[in-house]
Amino acid sequence: MSISVEARNVHKSYRDGARTVKVLHGVDLTVAPGEMVAVVGPSGSGKSTLLHLIGALDTVDDGEILLGGESLARLDRRRLAAYRNRTMGFVFQFHQLLPDFDARENVMMPGRIAGQDPNAVAGRADALLEEVGLSERRDHFPSQLSGGERQRVAICRALLMSPPLLLADEPTGNLDPKSAQQVFGLLLDLQRRHGTTTLLVTHNPALAQRCGRILYLDEGVLRGMSADDGKLGPTHGASTSAVARAGQTASDGLR
Ligand SMILES: Nc1ncnc2c1ncn2[C@@H]1O[C@H](COP(=O)(O)OP(=O)(O)OP(=O)(O)O)[C@@H](O)[C@H]1O
Ligand SMILES: [Mg+2]
Repeated sequence: MSISVEARNVHKSYRDGARTVKVLHGVDLTVAPGEMVAVVGPSGSGKSTLLHLIGALDTVDDGEILLGGESLARLDRRRLAAYRNRTMGFVFQFHQLLPDFDARENVMMPGRIAGQDPNAVAGRADALLEEVGLSERRDHFPSQLSGGERQRVAICRALLMSPPLLLADEPTGNLDPKSAQQVFGLLLDLQRRHGTTTLLVTHNPALAQRCGRILYLDEGVLRGMSADDGKLGPTHGASTSAVARAGQTASDGLR
């Protein structure tokens, strides 16, 4: 199952006391159903902000976000909740697991919220945890897991409902190179087998290059970059060094 994503002239600012921080200044984005797109850019450029807006976790100041051609602004609360539960999986930059639930219960949460049969949900959760090498840790609480293990649990939770859209905010940021490859492989496999539309924020140029397309967020706007034959070539004024710069700002696992 696939879904398109579109952002039209999206603006977003944050008010910080008397100061207004302008983050997005007219972001335009079109992601075709089933496409896997990397979003790169310096720290603080607004990558998480953009993902939160697309994930309906925050609202735009101006402009519009459309999912499958439907504007998020037109959805009522009930449909927005259903959208968050069933249409998209979100991997947060800082995992956001519930501390009072063990790994397996955290992964099961979207299925329980949707009222699905607990045995079936538990079976799917176990299969996902096995795929990321965490079968032995499924009874552990987040406080008993390493950073990379927590992130893998969060990825399983995002995938539980086999959503047509996956929004992943540095999903490999806390992982060692081998686990990062494994997790990225899982996302790629999902995208290829199910046509999951995937937006991946990453500071890792090697992973970005393996996505179908790279978009570079800087100074509040999004620019396209091409990734032909594994070599980054600039388009619309973005440069190869931009990706290298983006890579320098962070701590993704493959570096
Ligand atoms: N709730 C908030 N209130 C005020 N400012 C905010 C808030 N959230 C984000 N910002 C500011 O907005 C800017 C963009 O933040 P964002 O988290 O989107 O950046 P990012 O590109 O994801 O960075 P990183 O690569 O470090 O994760 C930053 O300058 C940040 O300080
Ligand atoms: Mg971020």
